[in-house]
Amino acid sequence: MNHLRILARNSLRRRDFSLRSPSRSFCNLSPESNRPSYGIAFDIDGVILLGSSPVGGSPGALRRLYDDSGALKIPFLFLTNGGGLPESARASEMSQLLGLHVSPLQVVQGHSPFWKLVNRFGNELVVAAGKGEPAAVMSNYGFKNVISMDEYASCFDHIDPLAPYKKWMTGQDGHKEPRSRENLLSHRVHAAFIVSDPVDWSRDIQVLCDILRTGGLPGKEIGPQPHLYFANDDLDYQTAFPTERLGMGAFRIALESIFNRIHGNPLEYTSFGKPNPFVFKNAEDVLKEIASSTHSHSGSHDFRTLYMIGDNPKIDIRGARQAGNPWFSILTRTGVFKGKDNHAEFPADLVVDTAEEAVDFILTRESAKQSLL
Ligand code: G3P
Ligand code: MG
Repeated sequence: MNHLRILARNSLRRRDFSLRSPSRSFCNLSPESNRPSYGIAFDIDGVILLGSSPVGGSPGALRRLYDDSGALKIPFLFLTNGGGLPESARASEMSQLLGLHVSPLQVVQGHSPFWKLVNRFGNELVVAAGKGEPAAVMSNYGFKNVISMDEYASCFDHIDPLAPYKKWMTGQDGHKEPRSRENLLSHRVHAAFIVSDPVDWSRDIQVLCDILRTGGLPGKEIGPQPHLYFANDDLDYQTAFPTERLGMGAFRIALESIFNRIHGNPLEYTSFGKPNPFVFKNAEDVLKEIASSTHSHSGSHDFRTLYMIGDNPKIDIRGARQAGNPWFSILTRTGVFKGKDNHAEFPADLVVDTAEEAVDFILTRESAKQSLL
């Protein structure tokens, strides 16, 4: 397993993003650059939403970051390990759920850095697995020859012996006529991307083992392992059910332990997502871009403080702590963490009950700083 170090941001986003300059009231502007000296990264699951329902007064809290005309005043983004939809689609979904304008640039998902691998696999046959629209996500980044696990698996008769028992499975037989089956069966898969939480674990583990053991040609003889990328490695996360649900990391553990039992060499893979430091470096760069497009001023701009508001100590808080200055970590009690005090292993700079309380703390703290200037 190896972790990616450096990340640059996909310039795509610069084009499809529209934010108006806000009025100057109460955003703590750094004197030298007339831009807010602070920015905020919000985790989604367990902080802003539980499933698809807003939690912790998140809509009202976020609305305080816009001015009366609806223009963004304080640069913020959603920094989630989740995914499955292109950033633009996820931004409109968040706008719907929260009743405010969220631009695609304000949505950074676990799979967002996958665009970095277009140079390497842009024209190669790659399989994209997970809930939602994994193939659309990848083609949105520029992958020209990507196929979803659903469509790929439907090309191989009997590859999933349990398919006849899966009532929901329309894919195998009723699926729209896939690309030329012959063409696919003879083409080697060069990489597999786990874009979002897999839905059909038994099929996906089976087909991934078939791809990864055979150099990308299921049913053929053993061969070198194609590359394997995960959007995150979260063991569990909080949704609408009272206790945590298994995440992509749990799927990774299942796949890895089975693969290592049936194959000579241990599974090789790369995990993206928080708590990797490059995710926070990238978030800082994106927040700078948001600030520069809402506060007209040329030249570089450094934030004095970046707030990471998260619910998972091992993922959100650990990541912000590892990223270090200027990150300030705030832990809410609306998700994975439900403790009275702080987390023992990954203590946050501040623990609050809700996102609303977190935003209240930030605005009060920053305007206090402003009055000292
Ligand atoms: O699948 C998403 C989940 O693992 C965590 O999402 O928003 O809490 O980073 P989030
Ligand atoms: Mg979370």
